[in-house]
Amino acid sequence: MDPVSIPALSPEQEELFRLIEDTREHVFVTGRAGTGKSTLLQHLAWNTHKQIAVCAPTGVAALNVEGQTIHSLFRLPIGLIADSELEQSEPARKIMNAIDTLVIDEISMVNADLMDAIDRSLRQARRRRAEPFGGVQIVMFGDPYQLSPVPPRGDELRYINDHYRSFWFFDAQVWAGPRGDAGAIRSDGLLDLGRVGAPLHIKELREIHRQSDDGFKAMLNAVRHGIVTADIAEKLNAAGARPVPEPVDGEPPIITLATRNDIVNRINQRHLDALPGPVQRARADVSGDFGRGENYPADAELQLKVGAQVMFLRNDLGARGPAAGGGPRWVNGSIGTVTRIAGGTVRVEIDGEEHDVEPAVWERFRYAYDPGSRKLTRDIVAEFTQFPLRLAWAVTIHKSQGKTYDRAIVDLGSGAFAPGQTYVALSRLTSLDGLYLSRPLRPSDILVDPDVRRFMAGVRAAGG
Ligand SMILES: Nc1ncnc2c1ncn2[C@@H]1O[C@H](COP(=O)(O)OP(=O)(O)OP(=O)(O)O)[C@@H](O)[C@H]1O
Ligand SMILES: [Mg+2]
Repeated sequence: MDPVSIPALSPEQEELFRLIEDTREHVFVTGRAGTGKSTLLQHLAWNTHKQIAVCAPTGVAALNVEGQTIHSLFRLPIGLIADSELEQSEPARKIMNAIDTLVIDEISMVNADLMDAIDRSLRQARRRRAEPFGGVQIVMFGDPYQLSPVPPRGDELRYINDHYRSFWFFDAQVWAGPRGDAGAIRSDGLLDLGRVGAPLHIKELREIHRQSDDGFKAMLNAVRHGIVTADIAEKLNAAGARPVPEPVDGEPPIITLATRNDIVNRINQRHLDALPGPVQRARADVSGDFGRGENYPADAELQLKVGAQVMFLRNDLGARGPAAGGGPRWVNGSIGTVTRIAGGTVRVEIDGEEHDVEPAVWERFRYAYDPGSRKLTRDIVAEFTQFPLRLAWAVTIHKSQGKTYDRAIVDLGSGAFAPGQTYVALSRLTSLDGLYLSRPLRPSDILVDPDVRRFMAGVRAAGG
């Protein structure tokens, strides 16, 4: 995101920015969907005076915050790390020594084993073995009621069960000590786990910016906590039961949020096939090491037709956008319709206005240490060029994480299967008027992870 499109911080966001900027405390910034966690992270990245490194657990999440994946920043092996020897090259060690603050986004997807590996890496590289994270300040952003880590299986699961209270980052030994049984959050909101654990400030943003209607906010909160009463379910189902309107020229089309990839692909393909005219294909240009297909920020081969419903994958930085003093013509998540494909551009109509869209470049970053200036530098190590568009009659709920939509069809198909899935889907909407349910919600669609409930109950009790 460019600095122009970051909204001015609210007082509670500003207060947390100051806590992070003015102290060396470890901070976990949490809060309901739409409370501006990602916004605060972007503000921090642009305004801090510290040497910070920004990272995230997945490639897509790292690209979103213009950071590096945790695994590549710390050169960690894939899979369970446990207490295996950590090999550190000289350049990696230099980087770890230059960092004042490590910022981690989407922390809810980081498991306890990885959290502890970060701690151990930093202690080892900085030769400060007695200090948590080798003295680096840790700032984490995320909502544990949304996406969870990939659940461990087999031996990995046995290891986690033997060593940790749960696989969540908040049960890592660095915070909790072995098995993390203390788990007490003090009245001042500090997670203080006694002898061995590092102190962690847990701060909850309260003000929701995405939705404005109090009734809808209360319903979302009930879904988040798994306390949906019959009355709330009835209201959500009654609102969502309306028929999906036929597309109207000039109005943004409606996206379907579905549980699984195969459902999403089927819906997109069905709609694409139903359009007249030839399919046009755009191949991505990949230079440098961008990893495998699942790390790609957009389709390796994008298939489009005139009339296709598409979603933008980037904020507008174009010639007539904010860079030239205008407002953004689109943002990451905007939905529109393809009206023309010619001459290396795709024309997309959004809210009744047509814009020519050109390919965008995604840059994969890697931190390096510059001994001359004794500062961290951020180098581009790979580039991915593609139209910042994907077919968007449907996306997975997983991919909709972090996004904002005015209208959406929520298709829970044969049922939600992950904790928080239904909450993520519903909380993308700015208002109840934009909700279309492909079938009524069932009690079994609302899953809350008991470890999250336990941890967050402590946060709430302490007034985090
Ligand atoms: N201080 C603010 N003033 C105005 N709008 C804001 C402010 N903070 C955030 N927003 C807007 O609210 C919406 C949600 O913000 P953001 O995506 O940062 O929330 P989030 O907590 O990261 O949500 P999620 O948990 O869904 O990822 C965005 O459209 C953002 O621009
Ligand atoms: Mg976010």
